Amino acid sequence: MKKLQLLGNITPAQFLRDYWQKKPLLIRNAIPGFKPLLKFDKLVEAAARNHVESRLVTMVDGQWDMQHGPLTELPPRTQREWTMLVQGVNLLDERADALLREFRFLPDARLDDLMVSYATDGGGVGPHFDSYDVFLLQAQGKRRWKISAQQDLSLVEGMPLKILSNFTPEEEFVLEPGDMLYLPPHYAHDGIAEGECMTYSIGFRSPSFQELGEAFLQFMADSIDLPGRYADPELQPAKNPAEIPREMLASVTEELNKVRWDEEDVTVFFGEYMSEPKHNVFFTPPAKPLTVGRFMETAVKRGLKLSAKSLMLYRGKHVFINGESFAVSRADKIVLDVLANERRLTGEQLAQASDDVLEALYTWYGDGWVELG
Ligand code: SIN
Ligand code: CO
Repeated sequence: MKKLQLLGNITPAQFLRDYWQKKPLLIRNAIPGFKPLLKFDKLVEAAARNHVESRLVTMVDGQWDMQHGPLTELPPRTQREWTMLVQGVNLLDERADALLREFRFLPDARLDDLMVSYATDGGGVGPHFDSYDVFLLQAQGKRRWKISAQQDLSLVEGMPLKILSNFTPEEEFVLEPGDMLYLPPHYAHDGIAEGECMTYSIGFRSPSFQELGEAFLQFMADSIDLPGRYADPELQPAKNPAEIPREMLASVTEELNKVRWDEEDVTVFFGEYMSEPKHNVFFTPPAKPLTVGRFMETAVKRGLKLSAKSLMLYRGKHVFINGESFAVSRADKIVLDVLANERRLTGEQLAQASDDVLEALYTWYGDGWVELG
């Protein structure tokens, strides 16, 4: 694999071996000449929307305060020490989506979203740690990052946000536009704006095993098949009627032990789970959907692309899109894997697709999951 400027002129393999989930990496000029993709006003507009996750962090009289969006009112830009954070900006802007996808040397199942933060001078969210890896790309102005490998991750109690009780910075850097800092999970950090600034956070997903386990059991509930009903033709008179008979429990245990799963069940569960859009994501179906015939004609001319909101994954014969799974034929897999990896299909590729695939694509088009190129 080739060296990436984005990673400071090392290859993704070197980055993964030496830094990913291990230690921080400061990359000067990761994106030369980087300019913010969204103007301040656009960001403010986004933060005021219902289905956009946003937060306002302020420091008033030495006290932290956090407010969840939609944010309809903001402090004046002349006021110091406040930060506005907007999640999922990749879903609102094509160029932000493209920026997030620069990080596809990591699997889609790990990529989360692009968060944009705006801060006035002195603003920040305080010294804290995150449970996820993050790339902090400076988009505008300057931010001073202080970081620490400290083991003491105790938090100040009763705060509206996570603030480390004993932050002891070990290194510090001032990031300018285009510079980027990678931090592994649980690495203590504090970023303070020097003048007005904007920082883009490329965030990752790593589901907790508890969360996965609970969701997996729900998934299994829909697919288990345990025929029959409890029966006890050999029942003996009850000495202690309130006591559950040992034989009764033994028989129930034996039946419940028949609940089994294999790699296939886990694959289908995990693919559906990881491709499920977040609760605040709503697809926009085409205002005037084309008829099937017109759709096919246009698609073969212009190609198709996945909506920025669509999550598409695959494994083996299973294809997953937005929480749904399909077991598909070998030939159809070839086309759908291209769609998942490239996030688009050319007219020529579509011309090769089977009727089943075209039918699925037409349905997805109607749902706003795919768009004409
Ligand atoms: C910020 O961009 O202000 C905060 C990002 C972080 O520390 O995770
Ligand atoms: Co952080």
